[in-house]
Amino acid sequence: MSDGYGLLKGKKGIIFGALDDRSIAWRIALACKREGADFVLTNAPIALRLGALDALGEETGAPIIPCDVTKDDEIEDLMAKTKDHLGSVDFILHAVGMSPNVRKKQEYNDLNYNWLQQTLDISAISLHRVLHHAEKSEILNDGGSVVALSYIGAQRIFSKYSDMNDAKALLESIARNYGSRLADRGIRVNTVSQAPTKTSAGTGIKGFDGMYTFADKIAPMGNPSADECADYVVTLFSDLTRKVTMQNLYHDGGFVTAGISEEMIADLEKLYADKDEE
Ligand SMILES: NC(=O)c1ccc[n+]([C@@H]2O[C@H](COP(=O)([O-])OP(=O)(O)OC[C@H]3O[C@@H](n4cnc5c(N)ncnc54)[C@H](O)[C@@H]3O)[C@@H](O)[C@H]2O)c1
Repeated sequence: MSDGYGLLKGKKGIIFGALDDRSIAWRIALACKREGADFVLTNAPIALRLGALDALGEETGAPIIPCDVTKDDEIEDLMAKTKDHLGSVDFILHAVGMSPNVRKKQEYNDLNYNWLQQTLDISAISLHRVLHHAEKSEILNDGGSVVALSYIGAQRIFSKYSDMNDAKALLESIARNYGSRLADRGIRVNTVSQAPTKTSAGTGIKGFDGMYTFADKIAPMGNPSADECADYVVTLFSDLTRKVTMQNLYHDGGFVTAGISEEMIADLEKLYADKDEE
């Protein structure tokens, strides 16, 4: 690990969503540590039972506190325990997402509505709950920074992403709305729209490999890794981005504004020429 830049020296935070060493939140935790931050790690009790997070806790010296983000009492408890460990905090990472419909390959026009409620509750409304309890417990310092991870499915249709497209649209809206209410305290709330990344949640999506390759071929810089996402998020937690708020920030190697790559034009020409000859 490099020495970093000391961007988060003296800062404290809460990191939601590290499951295993591929998790974007795991990479962000390592980058936050490298930059001098202290934090607590949290995940759903069922995820903690797998035990993988213990290694990250040991490596970063972070306490691990269980919390299901759909349960108000567990979030309240998390805030209280975080206060015991760290006092108040300067940053919160929301890297939580899950859709039972996507997992169980339920088609979008045949959604299970109970599962849709769970998708929205876990992947979007949880940001509102976390911010609500952070405010209520007075744990978040003035000038703090909150980042939630999103995906371009919020703006464009990626069929295999199903109801997660809707969840990300709601997540980004909550970030804007809550951001406007915390702005007078200098607290920033942003979403980072990350390119497809090979994590447990990512690879659980049917057709993920195709989506990954498509984005990688179109983005002029290719898909950024979870570690590159971590470096970007560190800047948003730092004091260098104090007036960046209520934004959805693309971290995607240029995918969002690119049309098509030369390589893909050549590949498609060849593919369809071959097909026409058949
Ligand atoms: N992987 C990608 O391609 C990609 C792209 C853009 C955005 N994202 C977003 O990044 C974030 C992190 O996902 P990831 O790709 O690192 O995968 P991941 O599977 O490592 O992380 C998802 C996390 O959500 C947690 N979670 C699920 N239900 C929960 C609950 N009820 N309470 C608390 N935690 C719960 C899981 O335990 C897990 O740690 C998600 O919001 C995801 O949508 C991922």
